[in-house]
Amino acid sequence: MSWWQTAVFYQIYPRSFLDTDGDGVGDLEGIRRQLDHLVWLGVDALWISPFFRSPMKDCGYDVSDYCDVDPLFGTLADFDRLLAEAHARGLRVIIDWVPNHTSDQHPWFREARASRRSRKRDWYVWRDGSPDRPPNNWRAAFPKGPAWTWDEATGQWYLHLFLPEQPDLNWANPEVVAAMHDTLRFWLDRGVDGFRMDVIHCIGKDPALPDVPAERAIIPACALNDVESTHGLLRDIRRVLDAYPGERVMVGEVGVPWTEIVARYYGNGDELHLAFNFPPIFAPWDAVVWRAQVERAAAELDPRGAWPTWALSNHDNRRHRTRYGSEARARAAAVLMLGLRGSPFLYAGEEIGLEDAVVPAARVLDPGGRDGCRAPIPWEAGPTHGWRTADPWLPWPPDAQRRNVAALRDDPASILHLYRRLIKARRASPALQEGSFARLDSPAGVLAWERAFAGDRRIVLVNFTGEPAVLALPGAWNVEIASDGRGEAAPFSGSLRPDAALVLRPAREPE
Ligand code: GLC
Repeated sequence: MSWWQTAVFYQIYPRSFLDTDGDGVGDLEGIRRQLDHLVWLGVDALWISPFFRSPMKDCGYDVSDYCDVDPLFGTLADFDRLLAEAHARGLRVIIDWVPNHTSDQHPWFREARASRRSRKRDWYVWRDGSPDRPPNNWRAAFPKGPAWTWDEATGQWYLHLFLPEQPDLNWANPEVVAAMHDTLRFWLDRGVDGFRMDVIHCIGKDPALPDVPAERAIIPACALNDVESTHGLLRDIRRVLDAYPGERVMVGEVGVPWTEIVARYYGNGDELHLAFNFPPIFAPWDAVVWRAQVERAAAELDPRGAWPTWALSNHDNRRHRTRYGSEARARAAAVLMLGLRGSPFLYAGEEIGLEDAVVPAARVLDPGGRDGCRAPIPWEAGPTHGWRTADPWLPWPPDAQRRNVAALRDDPASILHLYRRLIKARRASPALQEGSFARLDSPAGVLAWERAFAGDRRIVLVNFTGEPAVLALPGAWNVEIASDGRGEAAPFSGSLRPDAALVLRPAREPE
C-alpha cells in the first residue's frame, strides 16, 4: 500500500482557516499554529488550496505567479517553515496546482495579449471571428455566459472555461508544457508531497474546438471537456513527479459528472494516483442513491486497479451538514465516508459539524455563489473566535459561539471527538484502511458492508432513514464506533437508531 491509499486527507482553504495578522483573511502562519490540533485529530495529509500570488478574482484559483506566496498569506519562508513543521509531525502536505488557466495578470498572459505577434501569443487559446459571435457554443462555469472574451485591442477571442480573468493555457504548445513542469519542480524541490490538480481533465482540448451538442450547451464546458490528449499530458506530468523520491502524489480534480470518465484519468497506473469522483458529493442522503454510488465506483475503478476517493464537502459545494439537514446525518455520513474503501478527503470544519454561513447579498464575494461553505473556522467562543479580528472576510458560520473547536474539544460527546475516534479506529484497522469491500444484505434504507484484510474484519452499518432499523448479522459483534457515541464497546444489539451509523468489530478477535 502507498501512503496516499491509507491516508486521511484534510483540505484547508487558507483564507478561512486562521488569521494571525489581523487582515481578516487566514494565512500560512495560521495553519502552522494549528498543526498540533491536526495531529490530535489524527489526519495524515493536508491539501492546502491555492496560496500563490493572485489578483484573487477566484480566491487564488487565478494565479499570477505559480512560484511565490501571495502576501495575503505570507511568504515563501512561511511556507517552508509550515512544510518543515508539518513533516516533523509526520503530516504530508499537498498543494493546489492550477494548470488549466492562469490569471489574466500573469506575465505570460500580459505578454500574449500585447500583440498578435507576441512570442507568447500561442501560450493561450485565441481564435479569429467577429465581436458579436463567439467561436463556439462553450459556456464558462461562471459568470453565466460564453467561455470566450473578445480582446478589442488585438481583435481576437480568447478562451476561458472560468472567469474572463482566467484565460486557458494552450497545453498543445510544448513551451507551455515545459514552463508548467517547471512550476511543479519548484515545489517538488521544496519538498511538497504532491499536488491536488485543479480541473486537470480540461488541460487537453480538441484542437478543432467543436460545438458541444445543442442539448448540452447549457452545461459549462469544464464539466464536459474530455479529450484523449489530456492523458498523454498527464503521463508526462506523472514522469515529472516520479523522478522525485518519496511517492509524490497526483490527486486530480476530474470535474465531470460521470464516474466511468473519471476512472480513465487513472490511466494504467501511469496518470493520476487519485481522482475526485463528484457524483457522490452530489448524492442526497438516501440509501438507494449511495448504494448505487458505491457500487458504481467499485465497478469502474476496481478493474483498473484504481484507488477510490471519497469526499462529502469541499470549497465549491454546500457542506454536507447543510445539505443533509442535521448533525445526526452529518455524523452518520462521517462513518460512511471513513468506512468505505478508498482515501477520504475531509474539508476543514466538517469535523465540528459546521453549516454553511448565511451570506447577506451585500457581502457576497464569489462569482460562483460558493461563499457559504468558505466561512471562517471558529476556533473558540468570543467575538473573534480565535482570529485577530471579529470581522473576517466572510461572516461566521451559524452558532459559532457554541460550535467552535475549543468548545467541541472539551465535549467528549461532540462530533469532533467522533471524527477523532473514527480516524483512530481506521488507522488501527488494516480492514478499514485497505481491506476488501463486500456489501451485506440489509433492510430498505440501510447500507451494510464488511471490510476484511488478513484476518482483520469490520462491519459498517448506515441507517439513512428517520426510523430505527433491525438487522441480523452472522456472528457476534461489538460496537467499535457509534455515530451518536452511544453504546460503544458494548455488544451490537441488532438494531440501528434513526440516521445513525456504526462500525462493528468481531466480539472475539481471531487467535
Ligand atoms: C476548481 C476549483 C474552483 C475553481 C475552479 C477554477 O473547480 O475547485 O474553486 O473556481 O477550479 O479554477
